[in-house]
Amino acid sequence: MYTQLEQRGMAQPPVNVSTLRKMKADGVPIACLTAYDASFAVLVDAAGVDLLLVGDSLGMVVQGHDTTVPVTVDDIVYHSRAVARGLRRAFLVADMPFMSYANPEQALMNAVRMMQEGGAMMIKLEGGEGQIEIVEHLARHDIPVCAHLGLKPQSVHKIGGFRVQGREAEKAREMLDAAKRLQDAGSDIVLLECVPNEVGEAITEALEVPVIGIGAGPAVDGQILVLYDILDITQGRTPRFVRNFQADHTSPLAALTAYVDAVRDGSYPAPEHCFS
Ligand code: KIV
Repeated sequence: MYTQLEQRGMAQPPVNVSTLRKMKADGVPIACLTAYDASFAVLVDAAGVDLLLVGDSLGMVVQGHDTTVPVTVDDIVYHSRAVARGLRRAFLVADMPFMSYANPEQALMNAVRMMQEGGAMMIKLEGGEGQIEIVEHLARHDIPVCAHLGLKPQSVHKIGGFRVQGREAEKAREMLDAAKRLQDAGSDIVLLECVPNEVGEAITEALEVPVIGIGAGPAVDGQILVLYDILDITQGRTPRFVRNFQADHTSPLAALTAYVDAVRDGSYPAPEHCFS
């Protein structure tokens, strides 16, 4: 009965939370990317990406909005279902969109949809002190959770723009405390967006669960980027932490494989992709 889940006819078994924890323990960098449809999911998986996120960034890169705020649960479920069909090895995480986890019961109901209808194996929510009770509630129901700290794009209108977080010592300490509390509440992964290297390093050292960074420096346990950014599909200004992997490659698969290799050998992120 368990064979199907554990093997699916693969040379390498599918990634699960234990795989990710072991990668942290063994110091093997975890390569993660976003994807939003089955065709790209096949390529991302074939390139050897360990974790694939159906991010609410789809609101910006697929739907053409200026922020992630308009994305709905139905949108995420739709894209997650498509991505799930393309995956064989990678671990599938789906984003909880804006206001889909305003209280524990609502969070549980929507997380169940993402797993049952969307095929997600974990949900991600933008968390802080205010989300501790929600993470506890989800964890009590065995819903795997990734807590997103640092720059939280769903709060863009409250923050007043997309900018680096945790530059001041007090804010950095608050973020470290929140990360520990979210882990204790049951988060299985912590994701850090746009924080100085030193904050990424301190949080990674303090936590037992894997810490995945996007613009969080080289010391975290894994890296994640938005697929369209690294394939040079995104037009206009991209964030400092983005590297265009398509530039030196003739096919998307070669570019994605180069990204996985660069994360594994530590050549990405380079100093020019980091904040200090
Ligand atoms: O929505 C998204 O794609 C994300 C990544 C930027 C981590 O949250």
